[in-house]
Amino acid sequence: MSIISTLVFATWIGRVLSSGCEPVPPFALPITDIQVNSSITNSFMRGIPMNIGTPPKSIVVLPWPDLNNTYIYDEQSNCDSSIIWNEQICEIRRGGYFLETESTTFKKSADLIDAGGAPSELNTRGIELGVSKLLSTSLAGTETLTSGLNSAKPLTMPIGIPRLRWDNGYTMLHAMGMGSNSTFLNALTAAGQLSSRVWSIWWGRMWTETNAMDGSLVLGGYDQEKVTGRNITLPLDYTPESGCWTGMKVTVSNLLINFRNGTDVGILPRDSALRFCIVPQRQLLMEAPGSIVDTFQNATKMTSIGTSFGLHWNSRLFNNTPGNNLFDGDVTFVLNDGLNVRVPNSQLLVPFVDVDRSGVRNVDRSKKELVMFGVGEEPATLGRYFLTAAYLMVNHDERTFTMWQANPTTKSSLVAVQRKGSQARDCEGSGGGNADPTGGAPDQNTNDSDDSSVPLNIGMIAGGAVGGVVVIAAILTAFFLVRRSKGRRSSREPEAVSPPGYYEGMGSFPGDRDKSHLKPAELRAEDQPVEVYGSYPTDQGRGPGGYHQSSGSTYYELQ
Ligand SMILES: *[C@@H]1O[C@H](CO)[C@@H](O)[C@H](O)[C@H]1NC(C)=O
Ligand SMILES: *[C@@H]1O[C@H](CO)[C@@H](O)[C@H](O)[C@H]1NC(C)=O
Ligand SMILES: *[C@@H]1O[C@H](CO)[C@@H](O)[C@H](O)[C@H]1NC(C)=O
Ligand SMILES: *[C@@H]1O[C@H](CO)[C@@H](O)[C@H](O)[C@H]1NC(C)=O
Ligand SMILES: *[C@@H]1O[C@H](CO)[C@@H](O)[C@H](O)[C@H]1NC(C)=O
Ligand SMILES: *[C@@H]1O[C@H](CO)[C@@H](O)[C@H](O)[C@H]1NC(C)=O
Ligand SMILES: *[C@@H]1O[C@H](CO)[C@@H](O)[C@H](O)[C@H]1NC(C)=O
Repeated sequence: MSIISTLVFATWIGRVLSSGCEPVPPFALPITDIQVNSSITNSFMRGIPMNIGTPPKSIVVLPWPDLNNTYIYDEQSNCDSSIIWNEQICEIRRGGYFLETESTTFKKSADLIDAGGAPSELNTRGIELGVSKLLSTSLAGTETLTSGLNSAKPLTMPIGIPRLRWDNGYTMLHAMGMGSNSTFLNALTAAGQLSSRVWSIWWGRMWTETNAMDGSLVLGGYDQEKVTGRNITLPLDYTPESGCWTGMKVTVSNLLINFRNGTDVGILPRDSALRFCIVPQRQLLMEAPGSIVDTFQNATKMTSIGTSFGLHWNSRLFNNTPGNNLFDGDVTFVLNDGLNVRVPNSQLLVPFVDVDRSGVRNVDRSKKELVMFGVGEEPATLGRYFLTAAYLMVNHDERTFTMWQANPTTKSSLVAVQRKGSQARDCEGSGGGNADPTGGAPDQNTNDSDDSSVPLNIGMIAGGAVGGVVVIAAILTAFFLVRRSKGRRSSREPEAVSPPGYYEGMGSFPGDRDKSHLKPAELRAEDQPVEVYGSYPTDQGRGPGGYHQSSGSTYYELQ
């Protein structure tokens, strides 16, 4: 080999190596209205469009932070007939059916674990009733996704097909597991389509005639156009003791009613706080103690005409007639850690929306729904309408989640978020790459002693080379060092993050009533554990009823 050809070879190797260590750019999936059945006009559901199987079948999915596996419905879709009146509504609300029998790429396995699925799902109080049984009862196999990816290459991953009615309610679409051992994130990472197990979500703005916007799910980073102000970052905590099954618990120290004339009125009692579990897929803004929702309704001088049985199941219904002055202000969640999230009126009082028997989604603006539900026994939650005003990022590599006030915009500028001291640093000087390797990295200053001995700028070595053999030996050494240090890094535990402080005072709510009043009201599930509802004056006694796990302790114990 001549010196020249050695140099050419070395440069080529250098390119191959440096492109291998550049982070894959993050990518975004839209959260948008999708017509589920092509032969039914306006059969819309809002979610993420995906194609699955061969030939590809289009379905609508939602990200679920509290599941590790992904669950896709086929025609045995297990809709609750007391909520979903016919099969047509079920097909639309499930986001279309995937038919495994008609897909040539579906490979059936004995069960989900055999298919390579994650071996554990949660069983925390508050989570949908059947989650703990999904793993053992679902029909399982591997299947191919052909859209919703970071490249044109299809992605094969394990899926479960539910064989029991596990969700019992209204969060109906196919469930994409985004938990700490998410098979979706793992499959993308293994296929080289994702550099970090980080995802972010903003719901967009719904139902407004003037400024409706799609939301998005970003994988591998976040969208810096859609955030504003400072962030708060808290540890993800999936332990049963945390009481929050998505791992994302926040403390709200006040709830401000923002009247149009500029007056703000706080409705939480002094020195008290409410702890909420952030559950992005839930259909409302918040589920909170009934007394809080009543106080809100009284302070805004509105009179409800009942409870909604539509897509915003359990919200409070109001007549939207000209004489009936509905509240026109906003609501602000004051988070304990220094973040204010102001939810605009358009995402707080939304039109009545339902899917009718012909599968058509109807938006009825003669009624409005206050997207709040008063709970008694169950943990308080913040649902999808909260994420119209807040931007959420989940970082499984660091075991943290981060929130900002959202900046509602259709503009987009994705920022990669890498693991501490990972590729972004390794690739210094290699140039190129679409991702911004520095912006948004939680900590670029970490010295990673493993890396300091790895010569990565191959071009420089080649330029000063004394002989082909030396260069190639150096390249091979570098290659193995990089591989070794990457292997080490991926097995390293993230650093512990100290938990946020919060103050007590939950017990001071007027809702802290004598528990002897509690009586079982609606028993909805056939399965154990039995749900107990209906402690007056929450909404449950008069509403359509609940569907989550409840073991009889009060929301005060979410700590
Ligand atoms: C769509 O709706 C039509 C009309 O109700 C129905 O015949 C068909 O089975 C539905 N599903 C698909 C996938 O087209
Ligand atoms: C995560 O899931 C994979 C299978 O997808 C499994 O092999 C692995 O043991 C799981 N990790 C943990 C920590 O449970
Ligand atoms: C996912 O799997 C991990 C590892 O087995 C487990 O710790 C966690 O509780 C599971 N669920 C979620 C939502 O992360
Ligand atoms: C969050 O804010 C801190 C400073 O408060 C900053 O160091 C960090 O980079 C921010 N995180 C992200 C993801 O922007
Ligand atoms: C603003 O409106 C609220 C509710 O109608 C009222 O209680 C408050 O006094 C008003 N504030 C001012 C400054 O007018
Ligand atoms: C709301 O107003 C109703 C009717 O005036 C009253 O009975 C109820 O106690 C009030 N609730 C709260 C929490 O203020
Ligand atoms: C990284 O290491 C160098 C030399 O060991 C040191 O000078 C520098 O301060 C370190 N930087 C950080 C952020 O620790």
